[in-house]
Amino acid sequence: MTTPDAARAFPADFVWGAATASYQIEGAADEDGRLPSIWDTYAATPGKVRGGDSGAVACDHYHRTAEDLKHMVDLGLHAYRFSLAWPRIQPTGSGAFNAAGLAFYDRLIDDLLAAGIDPVATMYHWDLPQALEDAGGWPERDTALRFADYAAKVVDAYRDRVKVWTTFNEPWCSAYLGYASGVHAPGRTEPAAALAAVHHLNLAHGLGGRAVREALGDSATLSLTLNLHVVRPDDPTSPEDVDAVRQIDGLANRVFLEPVLDGRYPQDVIDDTAHVTDWSFVRDGDLAITHTGLDVLGLNYYSTQRVRRYVADHEKASADGHGASVHSAWVGAEAVEFLPQPGPHTAMGWNIDPSGMTEMLVGIHRRYPGLPMMITENGAAFDDVVSPDGRVHDDRRVDYVRRHVEAVGQAMDAGADVRGYFVWSLLDNFEWAYGFSRRFGVIRVDYDTLARTWKDSAYFYRDLVAGGTVPG
Ligand code: NOJ
Repeated sequence: MTTPDAARAFPADFVWGAATASYQIEGAADEDGRLPSIWDTYAATPGKVRGGDSGAVACDHYHRTAEDLKHMVDLGLHAYRFSLAWPRIQPTGSGAFNAAGLAFYDRLIDDLLAAGIDPVATMYHWDLPQALEDAGGWPERDTALRFADYAAKVVDAYRDRVKVWTTFNEPWCSAYLGYASGVHAPGRTEPAAALAAVHHLNLAHGLGGRAVREALGDSATLSLTLNLHVVRPDDPTSPEDVDAVRQIDGLANRVFLEPVLDGRYPQDVIDDTAHVTDWSFVRDGDLAITHTGLDVLGLNYYSTQRVRRYVADHEKASADGHGASVHSAWVGAEAVEFLPQPGPHTAMGWNIDPSGMTEMLVGIHRRYPGLPMMITENGAAFDDVVSPDGRVHDDRRVDYVRRHVEAVGQAMDAGADVRGYFVWSLLDNFEWAYGFSRRFGVIRVDYDTLARTWKDSAYFYRDLVAGGTVPG
């Protein structure tokens, strides 16, 4: 038994990687036939993205792929998780495909393989072609059908070289932040539409999954990446608070897990949201399509959340220091209050709690015994400072990664089948509504010169990958 204080060795075939996403790093937003995505539009809308930032240039990865690949090689990565930009490959989201867009990823995949790095491709990391949003976006069933065509095309294009296919990254964000709270593109605040989006994203996963399995058969590794919420009751002895946890677990977690792994929607979620929608967007046969099973479940983990039943009495709420804020993303959970978590926090304001990583992995292992899992994102934003020696001594990020990797190991001790860990992120990048104000990279990007500089966390991660061992 390994104690948390001793050095911990991971299995030799454990996959160590780093992750990025197309809109966050590529730039070249209007080059080689790419047309706008919902994030180009959203970022161009005053007041939506901090500092008026956009992904127009971002890290300019589109023109600096070779340089970035060299960093991956120097880090010793086994795998690189990136996303394909739908608006680059099929600019209007339907009809003609763009040869130049396909060629960009073709080269990237070839170069990765030549460098001995496995490509882990995500089909959709939030950059919906704007033309599809103009036609209604994810609340429209047709968007899932359009995704099926796009998925079939990319699988066919790269099937000989890409084995690990992730259909979606964090559909929770696409549905609820995009269509309920509106803090992500396309910025709509329509609760019923958000729930329709949930279903159409699940349906699109099923159709994309079918394309992967048809093209690759048994050699496919089909995956979906979820940001499962680790939710804890404020008062574990309070039935109301425990029920608030059930509600959020349903809306955040089970509504995405169950259609894919069990072929059903949780009845309690349908009941909780009955005042919003009758779920008639779920048609006969849909759940057979969503029910793909998964060869590996991708999980992004950052922090935990604490909830209680909504306290209607605002005076009481402020008297105990919590404030009565109801997160408007949570369609159907109006009576749930999210409470501030004790520190320490990252620059995102997210609490640092590695025990949630273990809890999440062990929880899935218990719910779905034998299901392989992979941490497809984990990392932290801090206000990095460039020291006079030109280096970034990001001790807190090093500590964050070390402790979370250790927490993955603890889940494996408890029987969870975890196959890999991808740090978020390879590079500082466009952090959505926060623009460039939040830095998650192990490599710093100077947004004036676009120069890349390794932070201490990059050196730490290189050594971790090389040894497969977390120092005690
Ligand atoms: C999850 C998302 O997949 C990624 O795009 C984002 O940058 C990180 N979390 C950090 O917020």
